[in-house]
Amino acid sequence: MSSTVLVVDFGAQYAQLIARRVREAHVFSEIVPASVSAEEVRRQAPGAIILSGGPKSVYESPAPSLDPGIYELGIPILGICYGAQLMAQQLGGVVTSTGGGEYGRTTLTRTGTSNLLAEVPEASDSWMSHGDAITQVPEGFVATASTPLAPVAAMEDNARRFYAVQYHPEVAHCDFGQDIIENFLHHLAALPASWTNTNIIDDQVAIIRETVGSERVLCALSGGVDSAVAAAMVTRAIGKQLTCVFVDTGLMRANEGEQIEQTFVKQFGVELIHVKAQDRFFDALAGVTDPERKRKIIGELFIREFEAVARELGAGGEGPRFLVQGTLYPDVIESGSGHAANIKSHHNVGGLPDDLSFDLIEPLRTLFKDEVRKVGEELGLPSEIVWRQPFPGPGLGVRIIGEVTRERAEILRAADYVVVDEIRKAGLYRKLWQSFAVLPAVRTVGVMGDGRTYAYPIIIRAVTSDDAMTADWARLPYDVIESISNRLIREVPGVNRVALDVTSKPPGTIEWE
Ligand code: XMP
Repeated sequence: MSSTVLVVDFGAQYAQLIARRVREAHVFSEIVPASVSAEEVRRQAPGAIILSGGPKSVYESPAPSLDPGIYELGIPILGICYGAQLMAQQLGGVVTSTGGGEYGRTTLTRTGTSNLLAEVPEASDSWMSHGDAITQVPEGFVATASTPLAPVAAMEDNARRFYAVQYHPEVAHCDFGQDIIENFLHHLAALPASWTNTNIIDDQVAIIRETVGSERVLCALSGGVDSAVAAAMVTRAIGKQLTCVFVDTGLMRANEGEQIEQTFVKQFGVELIHVKAQDRFFDALAGVTDPERKRKIIGELFIREFEAVARELGAGGEGPRFLVQGTLYPDVIESGSGHAANIKSHHNVGGLPDDLSFDLIEPLRTLFKDEVRKVGEELGLPSEIVWRQPFPGPGLGVRIIGEVTRERAEILRAADYVVVDEIRKAGLYRKLWQSFAVLPAVRTVGVMGDGRTYAYPIIIRAVTSDDAMTADWARLPYDVIESISNRLIREVPGVNRVALDVTSKPPGTIEWE
């Protein structure tokens, strides 16, 4: 038996959150599709299984189900919401429509002794989202809690180590939610808390050494968190066998190149090839205003620049055989198969020609973003890199609305620096998903000193979000907006007006292009 927990996915967003909560309890988790067979589970021999929630009703047809053979394997199971109802239905209980439903904070009342709810008081706040409810428990189970519309809000069969909760312990607003998950994992399923940053690093380092042997490895550094942490991990494993490439497109944030040099060359002693390709990017972008054309030009040119370096190093022959990719677990899950080498578009090297065939090293492919950041800190990366907000592959190119020119890129880079600097000073940088400046290529009239100006406006864009799928515009304090605005006008030549974007996503997107 392994100490991995399989989270069976009945509706993706629930499963990811559960998988993260399990890892916060220092137990490794993997998400598997609802179609997973008993045979597959038996082969993987997980230490426990969690059935996630999902948007369907168990009565709908088709509704995702679970191979009933999985209940025969002797593995502890926790069913959550849809997972709880499915468990009830498949094992011989009854699920019925409540005619209404409970959504959000709901009082949970204990109705009997319970191993799962051992630490939960008589009454607590649970987080509900259901229309159906379990009305009769299957044989062998006892009901242990209720809510006004869910007579069986929790049930358990201690002999088989099957537990179920109608509510969502994985949601932050649920009282004792994480305690229940940890109780299930550590006590009821007896899984050790052994998934730690140190173990993650040790495991990956061993795998990389084993895979790479004495071969050379290449890595494209973009300035983002993922490629930096992946490179730091590979450095820890094989040191000087790694060569990093940083292509300066002219569309990076302020100090990005210097910071990479400082960290990877000075601190880690890595060989870094710094390609100063700004002129070629600005030439290729001259006269182009269509956002998708810009993305395509930047993406393709990036690949060409990277390819030139790889060829020069003799890739495929004497040169590097392996390529590092900062693929994360959500990319792997979203790619659908869990095995495909999913390569993000735009700034990545996925489109390299076949004769430059690299083998991929993906040391982060089992990790969520928050884990990547912690691992990065443990590997000794500076916090400015580890806690960087996301930055799009095409960089400032999609934040200049209209033609991208060297002059506009300089103005936007300086403006972006001011926005981020003030946001940092206000202690807001880590609370915001992204905060940056946008430069629409129009000019407006202003007055400065005694003269009339005709210069660009800068738009402040700051959003809160969990995953970039939806976002809300950040309610920045007026005094922060004021200092950003004053500094932009004072410090950035070419700017004479500042505006604030107050659009959420949807209907807007985070980036302007
Ligand atoms: P939108 O603008 O679609 O952005 O709300 C969602 C997230 O994706 C990032 N983004 C990109 N990342 N290449 C990237 O690598 C791109 O072309 C691109 N466009 C948007 C954006 O910064 C946000 O985090």
